[in-house]
Amino acid sequence: MTKRVYLDNAATTPLAPEVFDAMAPVLKDSFGNPSSTHSFGREVKGKIEVARRKIAKMLNVTPGELVFTSGGTEADNMAIQCSVRDLGVTRIITSKVEHHAVLHTVEELEENDQATVVYVKLHEDGCVDLDHLEELLAASSEKTLVSLMHANNEIGNLLPIKAVSVLCRKYNALFHSDTVQTMAHYQFDLEELDIDFVTAAAHKFHGPKGTGFLYINKSLKLRPLIHGGSQEREMRGGTENVYGIIGLAKAMELSWDHIVEHQQHVQGVKDHMIARLTEAFPEVQFNGSCGMSNKSLYTVLNVLLPQTEKASMLLFSLDLMGVACSGGSACTSGSNTGSHVLRGINAQMDRPSVRFSFSRYTTKEDVDFAVDCLQNIYSEKKAMA
Ligand SMILES: Cc1ncc(COP(=O)(O)O)c(C=O)c1O
Repeated sequence: MTKRVYLDNAATTPLAPEVFDAMAPVLKDSFGNPSSTHSFGREVKGKIEVARRKIAKMLNVTPGELVFTSGGTEADNMAIQCSVRDLGVTRIITSKVEHHAVLHTVEELEENDQATVVYVKLHEDGCVDLDHLEELLAASSEKTLVSLMHANNEIGNLLPIKAVSVLCRKYNALFHSDTVQTMAHYQFDLEELDIDFVTAAAHKFHGPKGTGFLYINKSLKLRPLIHGGSQEREMRGGTENVYGIIGLAKAMELSWDHIVEHQQHVQGVKDHMIARLTEAFPEVQFNGSCGMSNKSLYTVLNVLLPQTEKASMLLFSLDLMGVACSGGSACTSGSNTGSHVLRGINAQMDRPSVRFSFSRYTTKEDVDFAVDCLQNIYSEKKAMA
């Protein structure tokens, strides 16, 4: 195999070369512990605070509202678990298609009798039924946390995040949104959005793995989830992932500065794939709302392909031909049978679904290669049948 194309950017994205260039000198030379009071430590601590200020400025928040974490999973856990432990939340409204970082956290809280969990209805296209959300909010005076992702990592449907924030304020509920798939893909003004928590992971926007952040609205007083030293203004113990944080800020800056250009490029690639697939496979459908550009994340295309007797081998065959894509979220790559998201929207499970996801580095040629490979697989299957 010579040619390889990467169409799994919702799982993770390649590190931008500029991000590597920003991280390498820190990794090489800035080795001081940021908690040390001597010059080696102070120098590194200064770099972390510059990174924090840059991110805060982009999001229109204060630096103290950002806690650096090991990524999206930790940030989701922190927002939800600390809301229950520290803010008196006893009821959580979420949806069946959230990431497992949210779903497994709320399930655990429910099993331990720490909170009741209610699931909001979804429309057929995977979008949240806002009328039902309002009914649920109005139905109880218990302290409630709403946890709904901004864009789904498997099917890309977008939440009208401002409308949800307005509803949450109306009913005095806290609002957490997992923005892991949308941070730095859209620009957020969090002050204007008026939200309590958002979560981000650098590796979804060409930053390094193992680093992210939680935004916590300054009106909320939480205690740390991870106990230890007094790092992160006593909000998260543990020596900071310094080069990760530097890379996170650089990746975010790069995306922010070129956001429209990147959006247009990626949307063009996605539209090209929709057109090519529709031409190649007249029966093709797109799961959730990802075929509609106004309702879905421009980086994700979840494709319901025609039936084939070798559906279970589809991802494997594509991989052998050099096309990297996924059947669901990264943890379920290799099969779509386990996708809780596709089940959650009652997608057709008797036909294979494949998630293709794009980045600013993806080209229309990459898409052509992938569609050609798919066509070859299907025509071989027909010839064999
Ligand atoms: C929507 C969403 N939330 C959370 C996560 C977890 O992020 P991390 O891998 O940084 O822990 C992911 C990663 O796939 C994601 O797509």
